[in-house]
Amino acid sequence: MGFTLLSVLMFLSTWFVCVSGTAPFTAYTNDFIDPDYILVGNFGDQTQAAQASIMAWANELSLTGPWSVIQKPVTPPSGDKHDYMSWAPYWWPDCSSVGNTTVLPDEESIWTTCPYVQHDGVFNPDRLLVNDIGRFSNMSEAVLYNTIAWTFRTSDRETYEANAVKYLRTWFIDTETRMNTNLAYGQMHRGPTGQKGTATGVLDLHSMTKVASSVLILRQGQSTAWTAELDDALKSWCREYAQWLQTAAIAVSEGNAENNHGTFYAAQLAAVKIILGDLNGAKNATDNYFKKQFLEQIDGKGEQPLEASRTHPYHYRSYNLAAVITTARIASYLDRSSHPFNLTTNGGATIKTAVDYSMTISPATSSEEEYTSEIYPNVAAVAAIYGDSDGSYLNFVKDGYPDFIEEPFILWDQPWAQDEKSM
Ligand SMILES: *[C@@H]1O[C@H](CO)[C@@H](O)[C@H](O)[C@H]1NC(C)=O
Ligand SMILES: *[C@@H]1O[C@H](CO)[C@@H](O)[C@H](O)[C@H]1NC(C)=O
Ligand SMILES: *[C@@H]1O[C@H](CO)[C@@H](O)[C@H](O)[C@H]1NC(C)=O
Ligand SMILES: *[C@@H]1O[C@H](CO)[C@@H](O)[C@H](O)[C@H]1NC(C)=O
Repeated sequence: MGFTLLSVLMFLSTWFVCVSGTAPFTAYTNDFIDPDYILVGNFGDQTQAAQASIMAWANELSLTGPWSVIQKPVTPPSGDKHDYMSWAPYWWPDCSSVGNTTVLPDEESIWTTCPYVQHDGVFNPDRLLVNDIGRFSNMSEAVLYNTIAWTFRTSDRETYEANAVKYLRTWFIDTETRMNTNLAYGQMHRGPTGQKGTATGVLDLHSMTKVASSVLILRQGQSTAWTAELDDALKSWCREYAQWLQTAAIAVSEGNAENNHGTFYAAQLAAVKIILGDLNGAKNATDNYFKKQFLEQIDGKGEQPLEASRTHPYHYRSYNLAAVITTARIASYLDRSSHPFNLTTNGGATIKTAVDYSMTISPATSSEEEYTSEIYPNVAAVAAIYGDSDGSYLNFVKDGYPDFIEEPFILWDQPWAQDEKSM
């Protein structure tokens, strides 16, 4: 009977949705997740796979933690491994002027004696020797997913909670392992004149937005493992670091950048201010961005000229938009009556205009297929925030990425579950 076949097919498709797997781990570009939304926990059945991925990612990341700046094998110019350090990826040594004839100097003297020159877009593989950037990234991801998994009603709750707290302590608080409160050696160029950090290094800690979401969830969810003592210690860390972000010459210069660097700076500074409890200062940081850089970042048709002119335009459009959306979400969280997603640029565009435009451009036009998936969290966010009555956002994501329902972002960016409050 045809009717039976149809029932079997329907059963099978339901079954596949229910037992679908988990998504492979990826670090989303930027996020600020409303702690109230997570703590209410009214997620709906459509998020089962996303929840399974969140727990799987928390478990997978935990295999390589905890993370600390003292784990790097190279000592920064200050002589103190507690200083964060990274090497600018496109800079290469040219030892021809300093006696590279038959015998090469040893590796460490290359870093200090050979002049370094930029080869834009060509990665120097030795940058990975100093991997504070990868450690910070994994720490922020692990803290976020362990914290969200803690709010799920599972028997492993306490393990997730303990993991999140351990990773925060190790990076920010414990005397033996904590990071000093500056990025004075971020994105160093190296060589005789490059033994100091550069402005772009400030971008390395952009995932402080994920740390802020996590800390708010731990606080408001009344975690017993996240004690008042630890919270105070993290506040002190953030107070000192915010001071550095607002006064160090390289940080101030990064904050004035017109492109994605300026956007990420605003989101990061606001996140740090939220953790330390300075909500007016956080609001000031997001206001500064929306009154300045934002106005010139998106033109009338939704293009982002400062990103489109880069070597990887498809990637940089999504990259900046992730930071713009995060900054707007922080602004909404700080002031529920504000409407950052309604703001228009000097060209008359909103954030939605820019995401809509980015959806019309194929990554193939600039041979950037490897960056295709970076657009999906932005599309889901816009669908959740502005609505998706004709289903066009959902169809776009479905068409490009049939397994999208397994992605963690579905937990906080579901058009069918988000309430109006972040509008
Ligand atoms: C040293 O010289 C050799 C031979 O010219 C060259 O291949 C190599 O890249 C140089 N090394 C550095 C670090 O400049
Ligand atoms: C970061 O996590 C990924 C995914 O689990 C892992 O492959 C990588 O080795 C980790 N890197 C560091 C520096 O912890
Ligand atoms: C607000 O931002 C401006 C510009 O960065 C800064 O000069 C000022 O000190 C900030 N005020 C507060 C209260 O954070
Ligand atoms: C714009 O602001 C109005 C309130 O003035 C609000 O009702 C609406 O939902 C907002 N729309 C967006 C897209 O933010």
